[in-house]
Amino acid sequence: MPEINIENLTHTFGKGQPNELTVLDNINLTFESGSFNAIVGTSGCGKSTLLKMMAGLFTPSDGSMKLDDKVIQGTDRRRGMVFQQDAVFPWMTVAKNISYGPRLRGASAAQQREIEAKWTQAVGLKGFEDRWPRELSGGMRKRVDIGRVYANDPDVLLMDEPFGALDAQTKERMQSDLLDTWSQSRKTVVFVTHDLEEAIFLADKIVVMSARPGRVHHIETVSLPRPRTDAMRLTDEFIQIKRRLWEMLDH
Ligand SMILES: Nc1ncnc2c1ncn2[C@@H]1O[C@H](COP(=O)(O)OP(=O)(O)OP(=O)(O)O)[C@@H](O)[C@H]1O
Ligand SMILES: [Mg+2]
Repeated sequence: MPEINIENLTHTFGKGQPNELTVLDNINLTFESGSFNAIVGTSGCGKSTLLKMMAGLFTPSDGSMKLDDKVIQGTDRRRGMVFQQDAVFPWMTVAKNISYGPRLRGASAAQQREIEAKWTQAVGLKGFEDRWPRELSGGMRKRVDIGRVYANDPDVLLMDEPFGALDAQTKERMQSDLLDTWSQSRKTVVFVTHDLEEAIFLADKIVVMSARPGRVHHIETVSLPRPRTDAMRLTDEFIQIKRRLWEMLDH
């Protein structure tokens, strides 16, 4: 699985124009191959921008972002992204949204059905296969998005607050399911969240960013054993990390 290296990355939107805005300042980070990484930081500190760069949607104005020593340029199926705003196709049913990527790459009808069944079930949408996005709640649409990205089986999974719109129980289930999926395939994951508990529960490494322009303020290594269990949320170690991170964030 691939490793991501970010070196001396600075990004200014509208560089050279009167309204230029530097959103990321001298970021240096490594996301090791097969690791689960979280990014936390206050609203507007550049988390989505950084993730979109990893997806290949923007190029940094300075510095570099590499995947396995190759500069990231343009989008690639190997880097799957779940966007902060859901990106389902309104003209496709739930099942067709989920099998979109494999269908584009020529999967047979039988393969598509298999993928649709597997991932609608995995994201808790069994029974909704033939529904249209407009007939779903916001959280359900989000789950279609997640299913569609999972179905593409990328090597790098970039997730921008994917569970933000879900209720606490669904969220915890989706977190555990994500860890199961990850432990079977060991994708390199970069997961943006505002939820410290979610970051600690999921990640090996948590990057804490400071407010705009976003800088790397702290890197927390989470050494809770795997597989992670819900009971770990109540351990001293978990609570201490949560307190430490909470105090670091700008309030
Ligand atoms: N395409 C763009 N053009 C100009 N400015 C942009 C663009 N995209 C983002 N920005 C600005 O960059 C800054 C960082 O935005 P970004 O979406 O990366 O923040 P974020 O950390 O993801 O915030 P949130 O937690 O609210 O999602 C913001 O001030 C935003 O206005
Ligand atoms: Mg964002």
